[in-house]
Amino acid sequence: MLLVAESDREVCNVVEQAAAGLLPVECVHDAEAACKKAAANPQPQIALIDIRFRGGGLTLANEIFVLSPDTHILLFGANPTVEELEQAVNSQVAGFMRLPFGSESIRARISHLLQSPPRSRGLGGMISNLHTEVRTRSEMLVRARRAGLMALARLAEYRDTETGMHVERVAAFSEQLSLLLERQSVYADQITKPFLQSIRLAAAVHDIGKVAIPDSILHKPARLTPEEFELVKTHTIKGWEVIEAGRKADRGTDYEMTLAAQVIRSHHEKFDGSGYPDGLKGEAIPLAARIVAVIDAYDAMRSTRVYNPERARDDTAGEIRRCMGSHFDPKIADVFLRHIDVFEMMGRNIDRVTARWK
Ligand SMILES: [Fe+2]
Ligand SMILES: [Fe+2]
Repeated sequence: MLLVAESDREVCNVVEQAAAGLLPVECVHDAEAACKKAAANPQPQIALIDIRFRGGGLTLANEIFVLSPDTHILLFGANPTVEELEQAVNSQVAGFMRLPFGSESIRARISHLLQSPPRSRGLGGMISNLHTEVRTRSEMLVRARRAGLMALARLAEYRDTETGMHVERVAAFSEQLSLLLERQSVYADQITKPFLQSIRLAAAVHDIGKVAIPDSILHKPARLTPEEFELVKTHTIKGWEVIEAGRKADRGTDYEMTLAAQVIRSHHEKFDGSGYPDGLKGEAIPLAARIVAVIDAYDAMRSTRVYNPERARDDTAGEIRRCMGSHFDPKIADVFLRHIDVFEMMGRNIDRVTARWK
């Protein structure tokens, strides 16, 4: 049905003539009647409204938008002012037609609108396209941010070890240990899908704060002085500050960045409260940081470092067992030790493990 809101009977006659054979026409002479028709079933496919209808054609158009979102609305009027035209352009109407109009031109507009999708679907399509566009852009931003953080993590690690593979191993092992914990029902309520999707990056960036530590200290082949050790300890806070600056930009809503911030700040905390930088104790230490703490220590012991030769598998396992409850969360260390051979195997095949990520 085509609804015409117009007090001039002559205009209604022209529209009736133009719409003949296309759709029935209903002419109304006041806003209340127009709204009743718009809310009735079936709702009008098209509404033609005089922009000066009873002093407010645009107000009526807005009411019809609400009552009947699928209705295409055309405004019309004689000698419209610039202000009226601007209002029409800025509203959601399908167009404006100048009076007087011939029946041919109005018939062409009616035919065109009848072939167009319902107004809300047209708008819905635009909105859903926008959602897709926003999602694509967001995913691109996430990928770019991950690549940037991984580059920073590797940069920090290249200065510390020869190959930088510590970053890759800590990431892969932490993800694996999280999966094992979840399967063994240890902290399973906290190891959610987002946790499992985020732990790898969070673990990879655990030491990015080391970019701020001078080479002379990082590469010192002798024992560090207490002052030097205090400086090394600041890598937790310095790295955390980098991530926090990014987190503030997205108002702290990004889970992956939240987990990364926790790991960076707290991976040197100890279960008995004797770690740094905050001296957190037990389960007050974020879970992701407690997982990375076990993995970081394991990988450091199993690798050759300037300050330490590589330790054997059994020696390393013994050391982790000895530190259960003091350095490490005993429940996490227990699951790790029961599956240590999985990590040994992954370590020997780290190239193949990380190839899956690309
Ligand atoms: Fe560290
Ligand atoms: Fe590390």
